[in-house]
This record gives sequence, C-alpha cells and structure tokens, in this order.
Amino acid sequence: MAVDDPRGGEGGAARAAVSHLVLVGLPGAGKSTVGRRVAARLGRPFVDLDDVVERMEGRTVAQIFAERGEAYFRERELAATAELRAASAASIVAPGGGWVTVPGAVALLRPPGRIIHLAVSPERALARLAGARRERPLLQRPDPLAALQTLLLARRQAYEACADHVVTTDLLTVQQVTDAIVELASAFRET
Ligand code: S3P
Repeated sequence: MAVDDPRGGEGGAARAAVSHLVLVGLPGAGKSTVGRRVAARLGRPFVDLDDVVERMEGRTVAQIFAERGEAYFRERELAATAELRAASAASIVAPGGGWVTVPGAVALLRPPGRIIHLAVSPERALARLAGARRERPLLQRPDPLAALQTLLLARRQAYEACADHVVTTDLLTVQQVTDAIVELASAFRET
C-alpha cells in the first residue's frame, strides 16, 4: 500500500490486517518506556511512531515542526499509521501524544487494534519528562506545565473516546504499568 494513501490504497481494505496494541496519552505518560517493555514481555515488535516519521523524513520531530510546521507533522503521522495498518506483525505501538487528534488515524488501526490510554496528570508528566522536554516542540514554552494542562484539556475527550481501557499511571512504577498492560493484552486476546 502506498504510504501516502491512508485510506488503504489499492483494494481499500476496510480493516488493519492485524490487531496492534496502541498506547496513547500525553507526553510523559510513559508510552515508549512501557511499550518497549510490554513488547519484550509479549515477544511482539515495538513501534515508536515518532521514530517511523523521523525515518520517513530523515530528520527529527523537532526539525519537522521547525521546518514544516505541526500540520505537516500530523500528515506524516497519518502516513506512518497507514504503513502500520498494512503491517503483518501485530505490534505494540506508541504514537506521539497528539496522534489521537489526527482525523482518521485511530480508525486506521481500531478495530481490530486495541487502545490503552496511559492517563497521567500534567504535573507527573512534567516530572517524568525532565530533560527530554527539549525534544518536544509543543513543550518549548515558558510554562511547560500550563502547556501540558492545555494539551490535556484539548485531548482528554479524544483519549477517552478511543480507549478500550485506561491505566492511571501517576502512582504506579514502570513495572506496575507494564504488568497491567501485559494482563490487559491477554484479556484482549481472549475476547
Ligand atoms: C506530541 C508528542 C510527541 C511528538 C510530537 C508531538 C504531541 O510525542 O509526537 O512532539 O502533540 O503531544 P510524545 O508523546 O512521545 O512526547
């Protein structure tokens, strides 16, 4: 399938071929950290969607935002999602925090994919991000906490609407969140 045709390209298959498990949530929710561990535990591939976009573009997310703007980045996120839809291996996927707001992105993978929302408070997210804030253009603000609060306000509904399950991560360790998701993944397989 053509990467640029998120509707499915030739044949326009209605559903993704395999059931990816997608972790959504604010920057700092732990999507990539936990996703890598879950993938290792389940013996499934891990896909960081930002990495896919960076490979497609040959530049970093920060560079894409600076050189082409956010709208272009969102287009590339959708194109990367379309690639995943055509993938043959059911992966653990960590998209960027804004992926849920890209029109059509969720529907490319779910169903049959399942989505888990890693809920996190803006305060906790900021504490987790620490130095990694530099790589996140939307948090390059004098008041990054306010930026995260605004993002959560704008996205809360989208996170809730797409999620099959929510794991509230503030008081949990990475290990505990990983365990919870591994358990959910087996429950999903049985349904
Ligand atoms: C973004 C989150 C980032 C990255 C980009 C935009 C967002 O990913 O996709 O900077 O809109 O929240 P993380 O959620 O992994 O930080």
